[in-house]
Amino acid sequence: MRLKNVFRLALYGIFSLLFASGALWIYADQMKSNVEVDTEMWQQAAALLLSLHGGAAMVTLLLLGALGPMHVQRAWRAKKNRTTGITSIATYGLLISTAFGLYYVGSEALRPWISTIHIAFGLAVPAVVAAHVMVGRASVATTTATIAPEAQARRAAAATLVPADAPADAVLIKVMSKAS
Ligand code: HEM
Ligand code: HEM
Repeated sequence: MRLKNVFRLALYGIFSLLFASGALWIYADQMKSNVEVDTEMWQQAAALLLSLHGGAAMVTLLLLGALGPMHVQRAWRAKKNRTTGITSIATYGLLISTAFGLYYVGSEALRPWISTIHIAFGLAVPAVVAAHVMVGRASVATTTATIAPEAQARRAAAATLVPADAPADAVLIKVMSKAS
C-alpha cells in the first residue's frame, strides 16, 4: 500500500500542477475581461495555463491507472481506508468525466454547468488528498501497533514474505500473499 518515494512524489507533484494551473486559470479568465489591465497578456496566460492543465491531466491519467494494481487493489483487499479511497476515486472520476464533457459536449446550455462542477470538485482536491493520506496512514499504523513485537521482529527477519511460524494475522497475511 505504501507507495515508493518516487511514485508518491510524482503523484503529489502532478496533482499540485493540476490544481495550480486550474486555480490560476480561473484568475486569468477573470482578468482577461478586466478593461483596466493588459487583457491580451491575460488572454495568453489563460491559454498557456489551460494547455499546461490539459497536459498535466494526461500524465495524471497515466499515474491513476498505475495506482490500481499498485495501491488500490491491495488496500481494498486489506479493508484499509475504503471510505476515503472510494471518495477519492469518485472525485477523480467526476473530474475526468466533466473534463470529457468540457471537450466534447456541444450544448451551450450545459457547458457552464459542467465547468462549475469541474471547478468545484477541482478546488476540493487538496482536501480530498489530505484526508485520504491522513486517514490511510492512521489506519495502517493502528494495525501495525496491534501486532506483538516478537511477531514483528520475526517477520522483519524472515526470508519469505509470510514466515511459516508467524501467528495468523488475517489482515497482513492477506495483503502480503496477494501482493506476492
Ligand atoms: C485514485 C485513488 C487514490 C489515490 C490517488 C490514492 C493516493 C494515495 C496516496 C498518495 C497515499 C499516501 C501514500 C504514502 O504515504 O506512501 C495513499 C495512502 C493510502 N491509501 Fe490511497 N489512493 C487512492 C485510492 C485508495 C483506495 C480506493 C484505498 C482503499 C481501498 C486506498 C487506501 C490507502 C491506504 C490504506 C493508505 C495508507 C498507506 C500507508 O500509509 O501505508 N487508497 N493513497
Ligand atoms: C483528474 C483531474 C483533472 C482532469 C483530468 C482535468 C482535466 C481538464 C481538462 C481536459 C480541461 C479542459 C481543458 C481545455 O479546455 O483545453 C479542464 C479544464 C479546467 N480544469 Fe481541470 N482537470 C482535473 C482537475 C482539476 C483541478 C484539480 C482543478 C482545480 C482548480 C481544475 C480546474 C479546471 C478549470 C478551471 C478548467 C477550465 C474550465 C473551463 O474551461 O470552463 N481541474 N480540466
